[in-house]
Amino acid sequence: MNTKNEKNISIIIPTLNEAENIPPLLHRIAQILDSHCIPAEILIADGGSTDGTQSRVHEAARHYPQVRLIQSDGKHGLAGDVRYGAEAATADIVLIMDADGSHPPEVIPSLIQPLFQNAADMVLGSRYVPGGDTPDWPWARRLASRAATLCAWPLVSVRDPMSGFFAVRRKQLLELGSTASGFKIGLELMVRGGDSFRIQEVPIVFRDRELGYSKLGIKETLAYCKQLLVLSGGTVSTKHGLRFSCVGLAGLALDAAVFNVLLLLGLGVTGSHILSFAAATLSNYTFNARWSFADTAGLSQESSWLRYARYFLVCIMALFLRGAVISALVQGAQWPPQAAIFGGIAAATLVNFVGTAFFIFPTSYARKNTAIRWRVFGLCIIAYAVALRLAFSGVVDLIPEEAYYWQYSQNLALGYLDHPPMVSWLIWLSTSLLGKSEFAVRLPALLCWSGAAIFMFHLAKNLFDKTSAFFAVALMAVLPIYFGMGTIMTPDAPLYASWAGCLYFLERALMAQKEKAWWGVGLCLGLGMLSKYTIALLGPAILAFLLLDKNSRHWLTRPEPYLAAVFALVLFSPVILWNATHDWASFAFQGTRRWSGDPEFSLHVLIGSVLVLLTPVGFVAALSALLPKGWTKTLLAFRHPDQNQRIYLFMHVYTFIPLSVFILHSLQGDPKLNWTGPVWLAVLPCMAWIMSHTPQGTEKTVGFLQRLPWRSTAVGLLLLYGGVMYYILLGFPGLAPVKEMPLPAAWEEMGQRVEQLAGTIQTQGQDRLLIAGMDKYFISSQISFYDRPENGSMDISGQHLVGGNSLMWSKWQPAKSAWGKNILMLSFEREELEKASIATHFAALGKIQKQPVLKKSKTVTHFYYRIGYQYTG
Ligand code: GDD
Ligand code: MN
Repeated sequence: MNTKNEKNISIIIPTLNEAENIPPLLHRIAQILDSHCIPAEILIADGGSTDGTQSRVHEAARHYPQVRLIQSDGKHGLAGDVRYGAEAATADIVLIMDADGSHPPEVIPSLIQPLFQNAADMVLGSRYVPGGDTPDWPWARRLASRAATLCAWPLVSVRDPMSGFFAVRRKQLLELGSTASGFKIGLELMVRGGDSFRIQEVPIVFRDRELGYSKLGIKETLAYCKQLLVLSGGTVSTKHGLRFSCVGLAGLALDAAVFNVLLLLGLGVTGSHILSFAAATLSNYTFNARWSFADTAGLSQESSWLRYARYFLVCIMALFLRGAVISALVQGAQWPPQAAIFGGIAAATLVNFVGTAFFIFPTSYARKNTAIRWRVFGLCIIAYAVALRLAFSGVVDLIPEEAYYWQYSQNLALGYLDHPPMVSWLIWLSTSLLGKSEFAVRLPALLCWSGAAIFMFHLAKNLFDKTSAFFAVALMAVLPIYFGMGTIMTPDAPLYASWAGCLYFLERALMAQKEKAWWGVGLCLGLGMLSKYTIALLGPAILAFLLLDKNSRHWLTRPEPYLAAVFALVLFSPVILWNATHDWASFAFQGTRRWSGDPEFSLHVLIGSVLVLLTPVGFVAALSALLPKGWTKTLLAFRHPDQNQRIYLFMHVYTFIPLSVFILHSLQGDPKLNWTGPVWLAVLPCMAWIMSHTPQGTEKTVGFLQRLPWRSTAVGLLLLYGGVMYYILLGFPGLAPVKEMPLPAAWEEMGQRVEQLAGTIQTQGQDRLLIAGMDKYFISSQISFYDRPENGSMDISGQHLVGGNSLMWSKWQPAKSAWGKNILMLSFEREELEKASIATHFAALGKIQKQPVLKKSKTVTHFYYRIGYQYTG
């Protein structure tokens, strides 16, 4: 007989005062084991019951010889007792379940089967997968349980990480050591396992106990939350928090003292301010390392100067966010500065504490689990980048393009000359709901970014794993092109969301063979075409993939792809309709303009643009992900022996086909900076995967080489964005805003200046003036946005009145309607107003005059104006 397999599984049941529950439970278990012929031993791991649980077990053991009592001293809690049980167990596979009947023994066979088949490393009974339920719970308890589950989302991939009903290999349970405590032993297993630990969930209906009482209370719930933070790598506790605050307050006092002393010594504001900041961070760092975080500070092998340098960067990041939050609250939300400072302090403290507890003095555990560390790092970058943008978007004046697209939304239509209508519709929706403001104009950009990020997350998760998914989104948060697309509202925002959505659904349709996903492809293509025509480049790429991939060719004979194309076309039909009634104006505009002009070799410009869009590190990473040979491929083959060819093809086709069009174009024409932006979306998942995974045994060397450039790039970019925003909003001490900096900070002031000017000229007895910006659309659009209707709206037109090109302005304000009017022409350049051709359009011309634009009573720029009398067309 095979003695090893004699006892196939060991069922471990922790008990604390469960006397009443033991007999019925054992009876149910025995029945199910019998009927499925599962040989098992049952270990009751008792934690010192005082209600006679032990004697009930002994009694039961007479009927069921496979039952044993494992008695502990009761000092190590639930997890400790489960561990005792596991040590005493003899089978390779252990199954843990509650004694109170909440966990239905009937699912035991489905919990152990995947382990025997080696299809999983852990199987849990789950309340939150389809088929699972908690029918006895009031809504409040359901909500609390869901909230606790949500907190674990970044760390684990399962739906029910709090489940206490699971099967696992005994060896792996014992490997945990005795660190796991309380009710979280399952969670520990899942988190420590990392991305390669295969977990399956089996639905269970969780019934509340009828006898005895629950031992899960506030204490256990709090311990769970703390455990999550510790598992995330943070040195977090009340003690650490309190000490950190003390150090922070002392640092504040030191900062103020040093500043004042240096000021008295005559050092000037700038020097004093910088030196006192350095002094305070140095003292804070020292006290944190020696006192607040002394327990984990010792674990690092890094030199303390290097660590201080990192701490300093965290402080600067906190400072930048603080400035942005204060400006947003004062200028945007109209808070009094006395109140806004607290918002600023709260934001800075949060950044500082998270940075310190998670990255400067992390737990020893975090140093080992790199997957979790990458996820947490990714999450923090994402949060910081989003917070910066939220604070920034309502305070900084619109850029001219945004003002122009806002003007679109004031002239709602099915199409426009230079772009499809989505950007206009979104701005219209947002400003109708929230009123006209910079924030309302830009909000759709952030929402589109979020949509793109969600698609990217799932795409990367489906192609690779959850850690890569976090990092793919982190890349979207920091890489210049994606940061920009989510900050500034242009047609690119909805384009990128649609592009990412399209890739997501294509992966579902082509790799996961889900036919319904084709509807998603059609939807995203259609919405994308309503945003910017560039997305049409995905069409040939889809066709190419269907032809090249032998597992996908069958789709060519199926209706779904064609239906998706028709669906996309239907969504796009408003634009076709608009074009049909406007002489095909926008098709002609995009078609001819892009491919005409003097042929000029510009491939180097294109490559330069990619270096800017992705940063050099991102560029190299994208290349190495795309290169056909090399270690990416080796890694891929290792991780996906059966799929790697297809993942490769997917990435290549959806990158290179759109890219090749831009490359071809650049051989003879000038590419625009942002053009290739969406193309790289198909490579991001693989880039994220490479950077967050290190071949085993090379963590020290390869791992370091992977981490260093990315960490510096990510942190460097965030500092750059924060710094630029800080500079625009507040200026740096000593480094006053550049003398002539109209953009992007003074459009509002300029608008008001023009309003005043027009007012004075009109009250001097002139007729009502028509205002015309003498550039493509910048001035007209900005003046129009910053016009204050409560003072009576201004009439605005563009330079088409005197023969220039002003895009849609010439449609909104046809020259005919200006006949006979007096026109106030505006320009930043004198020469524009001096042109001889201007005179031919008027009966008479006034003198060219210069006007300053003041911001905070300082002159920041000038513009010129000239009045043309009685426009003759
Ligand atoms: N040996 C030992 N020592 N057993 C204990 C101890 C202890 O300190 N504390 C509790 N138990 C046993 C109980 O006797 C019961 O069999 C099982 O552990 C679960 O305890 P309950 O008190 O019934 O907890 P619960 O039903 O509130 O919590 C259940 O659901 C949670 C999710 O909502 C458990 O399955 C948890 O693991 C799970 O997280
Ligand atoms: Mn229970």
